[in-house]
Amino acid sequence: MGEKFATKSVHFTSKTSGEIASKVTPIYQTSAFKFNDLEDIERFYQGEKDYLYSRVGNPNTDELGSAVAQLEEAPAGIATSSGLSAILIGILSVTKAGDHVIASTDIYGGTYELFARELANFGIEVSFIDFTDQEAIKTGIQTNTKLLYSESITNPLLRVENMEQLVHLAKQNNLYTMIDNTFATPYLLQPYHSGIDLVVHSATKYLGGHSDVTAGVLVGDADLLAKAKTKVVNIGTTLSPFEAWLTCRGLKTLDVRMERQVKNAQALADAFVTHPAVSKVYYPTHASKKGNGAIVSIDLSGKCDIEKFFRSLDWVKIVPTLAGVETTVSYPRTTSHRALPIEVQEELAITEGLVRISVGIEDSADIIGAFEQAIIKAKYE
Ligand SMILES: Cc1ncc(COP(=O)(O)O)c(C=O)c1O
Repeated sequence: MGEKFATKSVHFTSKTSGEIASKVTPIYQTSAFKFNDLEDIERFYQGEKDYLYSRVGNPNTDELGSAVAQLEEAPAGIATSSGLSAILIGILSVTKAGDHVIASTDIYGGTYELFARELANFGIEVSFIDFTDQEAIKTGIQTNTKLLYSESITNPLLRVENMEQLVHLAKQNNLYTMIDNTFATPYLLQPYHSGIDLVVHSATKYLGGHSDVTAGVLVGDADLLAKAKTKVVNIGTTLSPFEAWLTCRGLKTLDVRMERQVKNAQALADAFVTHPAVSKVYYPTHASKKGNGAIVSIDLSGKCDIEKFFRSLDWVKIVPTLAGVETTVSYPRTTSHRALPIEVQEELAITEGLVRISVGIEDSADIIGAFEQAIIKAKYE
């Protein structure tokens, strides 16, 4: 499809069949597909029929994988049971026991846990390195290094990764690159275009957009994605048809949601920058031509009673996730980044006063007002 992003995001292929021409793809809520006879089953194995058993493939999960691939402008995509399973599948598609991965230090806490505690059980070694320091990455490359891993906009401090530089370094050293594009979404950034091999999403966040699904998506070249698909089937990290259907439904409003949320986030970040009770504002500049994302993190250390702040938020909900249509707040120190050792938290500036705000689609002045009144109530005299 040569159309623009907003058009593509509502017109991805509809998987309908038979005589009932539904406008929207039906939910194929089935664990398996039926066959007329043994020859008919054989047709599946010869590639003449698409579906056998839903862990192996389902029209709804396929639709989601290919829709996100279209939006990322990558050749292929698959949907998985969660963002973390998509990350694991991506890693296992390009590494094996004995290999080494270099990951950025400032990544989502759950990803850190997966890397720090689980990958060793697969025989895969991981080093965490500050990705703002190119020399440190170069020094960290070993003979068995296979992959450089980072996030396009990092969680929770919103550093924008220099993907061109990462790709350049990877090419020089014959390494794969993988980027978590959850915070940016393909609305803001398309890492595959920058030469990244594998792009991963927690579709639980903006792609779904309504905080009602847990899902992941991995996109990249067809050969890597074929390997990834085999891993999904063998390990069983399949996404359910209903969750895939809900995520596709959410995807159709990604463009309009992001446009509003990014605008609201910019307004909120601007209001915080000049606020005397906010020690630090984390919000990117020049992340993309369409704006800087819809997450704003602030540090209230030394200025506000953090417990009081969280209790004074009025209609803004405290939720340990992000990217829904409602504005929500989370506390990285005890939720998303709880797994990080305290010294790593301190090093990363995940302080006692750090608040991560996921900006929604409400009226911009109402959002700013809700935070201003909470800060007034929580401010130290
Ligand atoms: C940047 C990022 N990547 C991955 C994940 C994991 O996604 P999931 O919870 O869908 O497994 C999260 C979850 O918060 C995240 O913020």
